[in-house]
Amino acid sequence: MLFQPFDAPIGADVLDTRLEEISETEFNQLYEAWLRWGVLRVRDQQLSDESLKTFSARFGELEYAPHGKVTSEELAKIPNPFVATISNIVENGKPIGGLSNLETSWHTDMSYIEQPPTASLLYAVEVPDHGGETSFCCMRTALADLPENLRIQCVNLQIKHDAAHDSIGKLRRGHEPFNSAEKAPGVYHPALTVHPETQEPALFLGRRQFAYVDGRTVAESEALLDAIWTHVAQAHQCWTQRWKNGDLVIWDNRVVMHRRASFPNAERRLMRRTQVKATTKPTAAVAP
Ligand code: OGA
Ligand code: MN
Repeated sequence: MLFQPFDAPIGADVLDTRLEEISETEFNQLYEAWLRWGVLRVRDQQLSDESLKTFSARFGELEYAPHGKVTSEELAKIPNPFVATISNIVENGKPIGGLSNLETSWHTDMSYIEQPPTASLLYAVEVPDHGGETSFCCMRTALADLPENLRIQCVNLQIKHDAAHDSIGKLRRGHEPFNSAEKAPGVYHPALTVHPETQEPALFLGRRQFAYVDGRTVAESEALLDAIWTHVAQAHQCWTQRWKNGDLVIWDNRVVMHRRASFPNAERRLMRRTQVKATTKPTAAVAP
């Protein structure tokens, strides 16, 4: 299996591969490469929902797509609950998928649950001619770039990750609006984590909006988060994916955050997406 790293702190292309056909040995090489580079891109694939699901499940048990606050009965009625659609396409007056054509802010997928997904896989079925690029920020580099005084403040820091909004700022199904980060529903995670498989430290922020630092006033929390975020997502920490139909991008949420640029709503974008269940909670790094 051939890999070509990008000119960035994260990411590599997997060359000349048909993912449905790779052997156990090849998958293990791909898995190691994914751990090493944090983001892999595989071009020219022709994946049905079923083959995307089967391939994704080689990384581990699949995690449900985010459906907001739903009961188990409602969840049971959702067809194909492990393969989500990300799209701006509207059919019969109803959006066929999530996230519309708007910009999504920097985020880590489903970081508001106790054990956020490890891998996310996003497959391009139909992409617009303009916009809709997805950028990835290396959180190992972001941590290394933090000034010493901020890095020290991150030790033992717990940040609450808002469950109520998606990455275009829309309230998820079943959630009530609120206006203060303190009131956001969600879970706390350490700001400094260590990757359970590579042991590498990284910064873990989730999303800026409605994030809240444990034990602080809202004003203190906002000031500290603003100070940290100023150093994050600088160009040299990032790599940007310009999509072509048939691209599959697999990222490790324990290492990268991502954001998507907006695109003209007159154009169509259709993506399918899966994610892999974690078996551990994010673990705090003991030292910066
Ligand atoms: C996602 C996501 C970005 C995109 O699927 O988790 O953030 O490029 N998508 O559609
Ligand atoms: Mn996402």
